[in-house]
Amino acid sequence: MITHFSQLQLQTVSIRGVKQFYHEQLHFPVVYESDHEILLQPAEYFTLSFKEAAEPLAPAHFAFEVPYSDFNNVVDWLQRTGNVTLLKWPNGRIIDDFETGLNVYFRDGDGNLLEIIAHNYITEGILPPSGELKILYLREIGFPVDSVADFRSLLVDLFNFSLAKVYDNFTFAIGGTAHAVIASKQRKWIPIAMTALPPAMNVSFGISSLDFIEKVKTNLTAKGIPYESNEHAQLHFQFNEYSFCLGLTDFPDKAPALLNLPYSRLG
Ligand SMILES: [Fe+2]
Repeated sequence: MITHFSQLQLQTVSIRGVKQFYHEQLHFPVVYESDHEILLQPAEYFTLSFKEAAEPLAPAHFAFEVPYSDFNNVVDWLQRTGNVTLLKWPNGRIIDDFETGLNVYFRDGDGNLLEIIAHNYITEGILPPSGELKILYLREIGFPVDSVADFRSLLVDLFNFSLAKVYDNFTFAIGGTAHAVIASKQRKWIPIAMTALPPAMNVSFGISSLDFIEKVKTNLTAKGIPYESNEHAQLHFQFNEYSFCLGLTDFPDKAPALLNLPYSRLG
């Protein structure tokens, strides 16, 4: 099974700008840095990478999960110490209090739409909260697509993902802690009605066993999707506008169930 998002690689027009925002303001540790690339570690099992690109960028949307009990302190820290401007809903509110949790949104220097989200049903103490933002894992990555129905059934067929909030223009496709937010390009991102353009991104998933890689290879072949695999037991492929990588990691594979995630609960 897919256990989590292990890396998100995005493009940037300024490595130095990325460092100022993510390292100096948000205090994400820098793992690697060159003139063309920077790698940050917001959570124990997740790295965020930016490569310099001399071309126009489409902003991405991604969301970090934090413990529910820390949410208000994290939001306070973001505003006071991080100097981050939180985005407003049309009625002026900043914190959204939805049925199962709380969230806030903000943007980085490239215009990527970031979210801090906390759910009241998640068991705390399973994964270590990292840094000042107490990040547990990367919960969401947004995938703007032409056909939500086609993309979600592809993710189900390839990865055995579960689906939630299944609508014509929006769906969550879920594997472990990873939630792919599949949104129609016609549906704008909340809370600022940001046009959903497909960003150039490479999404890496952690998997729980090498058997799973073999299953995905079979599924890719059945769909006629070419792939490459390497000696590190990683699998690379591309569909729609997006690049994907699957690889074995040391993420605890029981964590999604222990966290009490609705689609990972032990039956
Ligand atoms: Fe989101």
